[in-house]
Amino acid sequence: MNLEYIIKTSNELSEQEIKYCLKLLLLQKQITPTKEKITSCPFVCLVYDENIPIALGAIKQVSKTYFDKAEITTLKSKYDFEIGYFYVLEKTKYRGKKIAQNICQKLLECIKNKNVFATTEESKENPMKHILEKFDFKKTGKTYIGEKTKKNIGLYLLTRK
Ligand SMILES: CC(C)(COP(=O)(O)OP(=O)(O)OC[C@H]1O[C@@H](n2cnc3c(N)ncnc32)[C@H](O)[C@@H]1OP(=O)(O)O)[C@@H](O)C(=O)NCCC(=O)NCCS
Repeated sequence: MNLEYIIKTSNELSEQEIKYCLKLLLLQKQITPTKEKITSCPFVCLVYDENIPIALGAIKQVSKTYFDKAEITTLKSKYDFEIGYFYVLEKTKYRGKKIAQNICQKLLECIKNKNVFATTEESKENPMKHILEKFDFKKTGKTYIGEKTKKNIGLYLLTRK
């Protein structure tokens, strides 16, 4: 494995890189991927193995409706960045090798000292929940049902200022 982590602002992404992001998001199966969703991200991290895209993560366009769903509306104005779109290809070859944690660390460095939120499935078996907690994100507010996934979703806050 020869992994390369590339972080770009969305206006630096080539058409090919946007296609790679869409392909990885399609495999992730948690949202309906669109070009707009990618090009509105402040930062995108693509990971390549021998020039083949194998993982994705992003600082996303902010949708603060999650704060209403989690019934913590008053905290809304303090969190202007969201981290998400995590996907690592192929269970056996790439997962469990800290690729998502490396992406998370690099993306958080891009928005140093800023408060960040994330949403993920509220399940003990969910590696993303484990990763967010490892990075000191705190589950805050009420668990709610995700619109597309119909799963229990938790809102996680990382407070840095
Ligand atoms: C979630 C995902 C991005 C993680 O990628 P990854 O590169 O394998 O993650 P990492 O190797 O960096 O870290 C995984 C951590 O979860 C832990 N983990 C793995 N399986 C777990 C489980 N069933 N329950 C709890 N923790 C688990 C690992 O032990 C590891 O933590 P550690 O380093 O402290 O031991 C990847 O599994 C994925 O693409 N899943 C499908 C899409 C998805 O769910 N995306 C998240 C959307 S919010």
